[in-house]
Amino acid sequence: MCGIVGYVGSQSALDVVMAGLKRLEYRGYDSAGVAVLADGGLAPAKRAGKLVNLEKELAEHPLPAGTTGIGHTRWATHGGPTDANAHPHLDNAGRVAVVHNGIIENFAALRAELAGRGHDLASETDTEVVAHLLAEEFSACADLAEAMRLVCRRLEGAFTLVAVHADEPGVVVGARRNSPLVVGVGEGESFLASDVAAFIAHTREALELGQDQVVELSRDGVTVTGFDGSPAEVRAYHVDWDASAAEKGGHASFMLKEIAEQPKAVADTLLGRIDAEGSLTLDEVRIPAHELRETDKVVIVACGTAFHAGLIAKYAIEHWTRIPCEVELASEFRYRDPILDQRSLVIAISQSGETMDTLMAVRHAREQGSKVLAICNTNGSTIPRESDAVLYTHAGPEVAVASTKAFLTQLVACYLVALYLGQVRGTKWGDEIRAVIRDLAGIGQAVERVLGTMEPVRELARSLAGQDTVLFLGRHVGYPVALEGALKLKELAYMHAEGFAAGELKHGPIALIEEGLPVVVVVPSPRGRSVLHDKLVSNIQEIRARGARTVVIAEEGDETVTPYADHLVRIPATPTLLQPLVATVPLQVFACELATARGNEVDQPRNLAKSVTVE
Ligand code: G6P
Repeated sequence: MCGIVGYVGSQSALDVVMAGLKRLEYRGYDSAGVAVLADGGLAPAKRAGKLVNLEKELAEHPLPAGTTGIGHTRWATHGGPTDANAHPHLDNAGRVAVVHNGIIENFAALRAELAGRGHDLASETDTEVVAHLLAEEFSACADLAEAMRLVCRRLEGAFTLVAVHADEPGVVVGARRNSPLVVGVGEGESFLASDVAAFIAHTREALELGQDQVVELSRDGVTVTGFDGSPAEVRAYHVDWDASAAEKGGHASFMLKEIAEQPKAVADTLLGRIDAEGSLTLDEVRIPAHELRETDKVVIVACGTAFHAGLIAKYAIEHWTRIPCEVELASEFRYRDPILDQRSLVIAISQSGETMDTLMAVRHAREQGSKVLAICNTNGSTIPRESDAVLYTHAGPEVAVASTKAFLTQLVACYLVALYLGQVRGTKWGDEIRAVIRDLAGIGQAVERVLGTMEPVRELARSLAGQDTVLFLGRHVGYPVALEGALKLKELAYMHAEGFAAGELKHGPIALIEEGLPVVVVVPSPRGRSVLHDKLVSNIQEIRARGARTVVIAEEGDETVTPYADHLVRIPATPTLLQPLVATVPLQVFACELATARGNEVDQPRNLAKSVTVE
């Protein structure tokens, strides 16, 4: 989320920064901005929309030449994608400029404090408070790095900050907590960026900044300290990617990169949702609690992968809140004249926020008087704008057409909404909610473990490249996981793939089973409802007896499945309802590898689009 560049040296800072931003545009393209130190002052420029808008602005109103500068390409979180909210943000005197990636959780308190001291804040962002705080600290110490350390100690949340001050020309200062920032070290020049891609054309020598560190760049070199001012150790490394691979962080495709980013995406989506007492606070949910208490039906509308997230959400919503929940394909919704009124809560799930089918379902629901809550990954997009409330997932930009990290974060958001409904309606106690939140907080690590054990899955996928058909089975929340596994394979490998509810098998699909047919089975935890688990183990035996080649995804320690698995894929033990967060990951890896083995382009599969803006 958001791309940041800083430069100090002897080249044109504007040229270096703009070229860097171009390489980072995959991180967000809601707006872009730069600031250059020149002629004893600070020259900023910023524009909403893609980088090309800023390029036009700079062509029409050129900035003075300078050799120190910073830049930003934004993926909006706080405040819509407007010119005013674009970075850099400046103090009132226009002497300090700052760019930011992340979320400053205590910004509201800091903003109120600054307003009380007479500061005039112009944007809706959390970032602007940093520019004002830096200006105050700098006026006392006249040292930008020291001012940054003092400010960082007051900030909560995740942030990368990069700043310049007109009174300290030839210096760029950066800071990092839970958000990426790397240093590029050249001959008489230094770089700061969210990703080495931004400076790989100039240097391959990099420094990895640690947590809670401040870095000061000048032409003479780089100094790194902790937030407390103590000298810090940094790891130097040589980048051996070429410029094109660097954009994908060294991964062969955006899809692989996005699969690998899932632990962080899940953690980011949980960030800032729990208050000091451990209760859920969903600030963006602006539907009054009394209306949520009166809700008598939840209807989820979505398309594609987001629809599968909705199918899983139904199990959690009904179990935790006891409110009936329907899940409907957005494209079917309004044509069947659904029964909706003021007491229905419609949840629209969409990564892009622009899917026309989902948007039309939202409009229809609002015309019927229902409240609409959007779960969305794209700040300022149409679906959240037209909804009564929004809960943003913080997956960061998803570039590959087939959705991966957005899906996992949609699930997290759905669990949060379900818990929140349980909280306001009193169907879940505080300690029960906190227990689930604790489980969710551990999911990032569990996904990381799954990702570390995927080589046998990749090997299996390669061996199946010549197959025509693969079937997927699951029960309970494993059923939508099976549907998602099949969808991924269709989208990427262009194979016949179908997901079934395992119990439905005997009512027809079992006729498809023949010698050697690969069938992927998602097994529920034996620690949940054992009857569910045992029934699925019987289903595996039924298909194996008819010649199926079974690929069994089962929890670590579940030995009952071992005798019936031709291939066994282990996933960490999780509570029953949360299992899709780990069980989906091997299916993503499987589809991606199988598609690659068939020679397909995984990031942009044929006939598909990332955002479908037609009905
Ligand atoms: C398209 C994409 C799918 C996606 C679906 C919904 O069909 O190819 O990958 O799941 O749209 O997109 P949304 O942006 O609404 O989540």
